[in-house]
Amino acid sequence: MELCEEKPEDWHEVEALMDLCFAPGRTALSSYRLRDGVDPVRGLCLLLRADGAIRAAIRFWPVQVGGQPVLLLGPIAVHPTAQGEGLGAWLMQESLGRARAMGWARVMLVGDAPYYSRFGFQKLEAVEMPPPTNPDRVLGLELQPGAWIGVEGPVMRASGLETAPAHDKVERAGDCRDVEPRKEAPDGRSQAGRPAPDHG
Ligand SMILES: CC(C)(COP(=O)(O)OP(=O)(O)OC[C@H]1O[C@@H](n2cnc3c(N)ncnc32)[C@H](O)[C@@H]1OP(=O)(O)O)[C@@H](O)C(=O)NCCC(=O)NCCS
Repeated sequence: MELCEEKPEDWHEVEALMDLCFAPGRTALSSYRLRDGVDPVRGLCLLLRADGAIRAAIRFWPVQVGGQPVLLLGPIAVHPTAQGEGLGAWLMQESLGRARAMGWARVMLVGDAPYYSRFGFQKLEAVEMPPPTNPDRVLGLELQPGAWIGVEGPVMRASGLETAPAHDKVERAGDCRDVEPRKEAPDGRSQAGRPAPDHG
């Protein structure tokens, strides 16, 4: 499998994957209004490809809360034929590691707490998404200790890269590289190399 940074020419293929994975009308959600007219964060929008086809994708946008830069994670989608194999978790860990290395301090998303809590996301009590958003689905993660302390209020569109950390200091690969995402076993070990399950 190949890990690639999303390029402009990938846009429509990623959109098709999102359309396949989400209910119709996804772009009517309030989180999309925070993305309209704002460039996604380069270096964090990642794809997993197998045999030339996109199997999974994740995107990030910059937003602001209380005047502070925040990463808005999402959407993330895994092709229905590849769900439950660990691709989503692998993309989450890879992109969050990159975000930390880029100097981002905090990340938020709107999603299912039972899934995202495994990556450390917790409900953001004092952060308000534009309505209509279920407040229980507004989740955050600190990439630097204490980064969400005192960061409160409505989520606002980012006005530009001046709100983001210094991306220039990050080494940018640009190309794809081979990776082997594997679902983590409950004991934390990778399942790579384990016997294949018996499908009977
Ligand atoms: C959600 C999604 C990104 C997860 O990626 P994935 O590669 O299928 O998931 P992983 O293999 O990393 O993890 C699978 C685990 O997550 C759980 N899981 C998946 N979606 C979940 C959800 N919405 N709520 C709670 N748990 C969820 C599975 O039950 C499984 O649990 P287990 O490890 O205890 O068996 C993917 O299933 C997907 O694209 N779904 C449709 C689009 C979507 O819902 N995106 C997220 C919006 S909140």
